[in-house]
Amino acid sequence: MGEDTSDTAHRPPIYLDSAASTAVRPEVLDAMLPYFTSVYANPSGHHAGGFRANGAIEAARASIAAVLGALKEEVVFTSGGTESINAAIKGVAFAQRDAGAGQHIVTTQVEHHAVLHSAQFLERFGFEVEYVPVDRYGRVDPAEVVEAVRPDTVLVSVMYANNEVGTIQPLAEIAGGVRERASALGRRIPFHTDAVQAANALPLAVDELGVDLLSLSGHKFGGPKGTGLLYLRRDVPFLEQLSGGGQERQRRSGTENTPGIVGIARALELAQTERAGFAARTSALRDRLLEGIRRLVPDAVLNGHPDERLPNNTHVCIPGVEGEAVVTALDRMGIACSAGAACTSATWEPSHVLLAMNVPLELAIGSVRMSTWPTHTAADIDAVVEALPAVVARLRAAGAPSI
Ligand SMILES: Cc1ncc(COP(=O)(O)O)c(C=O)c1O
Repeated sequence: MGEDTSDTAHRPPIYLDSAASTAVRPEVLDAMLPYFTSVYANPSGHHAGGFRANGAIEAARASIAAVLGALKEEVVFTSGGTESINAAIKGVAFAQRDAGAGQHIVTTQVEHHAVLHSAQFLERFGFEVEYVPVDRYGRVDPAEVVEAVRPDTVLVSVMYANNEVGTIQPLAEIAGGVRERASALGRRIPFHTDAVQAANALPLAVDELGVDLLSLSGHKFGGPKGTGLLYLRRDVPFLEQLSGGGQERQRRSGTENTPGIVGIARALELAQTERAGFAARTSALRDRLLEGIRRLVPDAVLNGHPDERLPNNTHVCIPGVEGEAVVTALDRMGIACSAGAACTSATWEPSHVLLAMNVPLELAIGSVRMSTWPTHTAADIDAVVEALPAVVARLRAAGAPSI
């Protein structure tokens, strides 16, 4: 047998990339298992197996509706965050244009590509999109979003929390301002939020947030990949983006993913019940990590809002290194995290989020995101803090990245 010569031989790997994906929680897996091999009938089937599968889906829908403070009928199951967001943006935009309401959309410069590329897709069909800028912490000014709303605006989409730098937007304030502006215009302008990064730490009650559409992705909060949901307020005009058998009340055709739906519902219930504990635990770990980085790599710069940020997000720029090189070096030591810039065909493509925040290019290419999780121990964090300075020193000695 080959000898394990990696630096991790003495300890298990440390996964600091929960913003990218999480493990399915054991409680979630247990809830899902019967629906793979026992209750596997098509939920549309007119027989005992079909009724049982359908019953499980409706129970899941009721549990999600309770978490969101919504009606059961307002919950649409999808295949993930990307699908929910595409359905929300394209479905609302096309339905309203068809109704003659206009073709103007307001969003922000720091949205996930699922939002930005859906907006760009609509631009090809004649829609006009306003991308509202952010401050140096990645926050939008609610007044600027409101000012961007016009009489022909058909949708406003602002993310809840940023997936790169963790900044939380003042969502209720923005949505409230948009609602007031819309009513002054004698209009009803649907408001969507990409809440994909929010479910572990932030409240999701849709009426309190003042949102009409909200997108979530199961694998970001201990649920399975390939599961998502869209909250769609009952009076919002919507043109379905997947046509077929008419499942999900004609809003999303396709045979339902029964185990996935059971899984995302259980995961959301757990995540929202445990929010306070999650925030306390992951922020303590995050503070330990950040303190260690600041002590041992003193010129590292924290990105994102100092306080209004996801509790488990640490996003730093390390001058004089490439973020990707740091990620690769740490990976060799069994530490998983992610970089904020990618080098494609010899040119640097820093993240659009950091550019919107006016982070200088030479800093942006050295960005690294580490996301803590409640299952981490202080020893895990200490191991990362211990590993990082040597990696940075070695990369700096090898020469500054060329821009
Ligand atoms: C903020 C945000 N929106 C949307 C998505 C897309 O979700 P999914 O990849 O699950 O479709 C992600 C995933 O990284 C995200 O972080």
